[in-house]
Amino acid sequence: MKQPEQLQKIVNKIVQSDDVHSKWLNSLSMMENTGARKISKYEHPVHTNIIVLKHAAEEARHAYYLKKQISKLAKEACPDYSYPYLLAPIESYHYLNMLDVEACRYIKKELKLEGRDMKHGAYLLVTYAIEVRADMLYGIYQEALTKYSSKVNVKSIIAEEEGHLEEMQRMLEVFHPEWERLAGDMCKVENKLFERWVTAIGKVLESN
Ligand SMILES: [Fe+2]
Ligand SMILES: [Fe+2]
Repeated sequence: MKQPEQLQKIVNKIVQSDDVHSKWLNSLSMMENTGARKISKYEHPVHTNIIVLKHAAEEARHAYYLKKQISKLAKEACPDYSYPYLLAPIESYHYLNMLDVEACRYIKKELKLEGRDMKHGAYLLVTYAIEVRADMLYGIYQEALTKYSSKVNVKSIIAEEEGHLEEMQRMLEVFHPEWERLAGDMCKVENKLFERWVTAIGKVLESN
């Protein structure tokens, strides 16, 4: 099965159960929050521009917004990000951490950058790959929400993620003349990690 169809099948199933749907929202919230915290960690204490500030603020808002959606499905569900309240917790944590590790390794090897320059490059490439994914994932998710007339909606997140993708593209153009090749390589790495994540979520649903 092709990836978009596989994801479609999974989210269609997820939105039909309030319990699973709550954990899905909580997992996405955790990943958004991890993203926001990574951006904050990357931020230079002095040389930080408005684009990076906006990005950090919006990813934190996504985490909060997704968390708030859970109360539409079940009151007091998923109080925090501990394993019992997440879908495929190990793979969910693994996905973001491995992206960072792989990006740093790739930039070191490919561009011979180290230290702050390497971190900057990794931030751009990882964020770009995640934004491409976010466009796909939230798009498919919103389709399922609409189809099943769910009280949950993620339209405001979709609008902001589209803006992020454009911003990342502009920053990558400044970063390197061959940014498209670099971003393409990173998206391949991300794709493998994403496959693992989707497969793990699929298995959880089967055993439910
Ligand atoms: Fe986000
Ligand atoms: Fe984003």
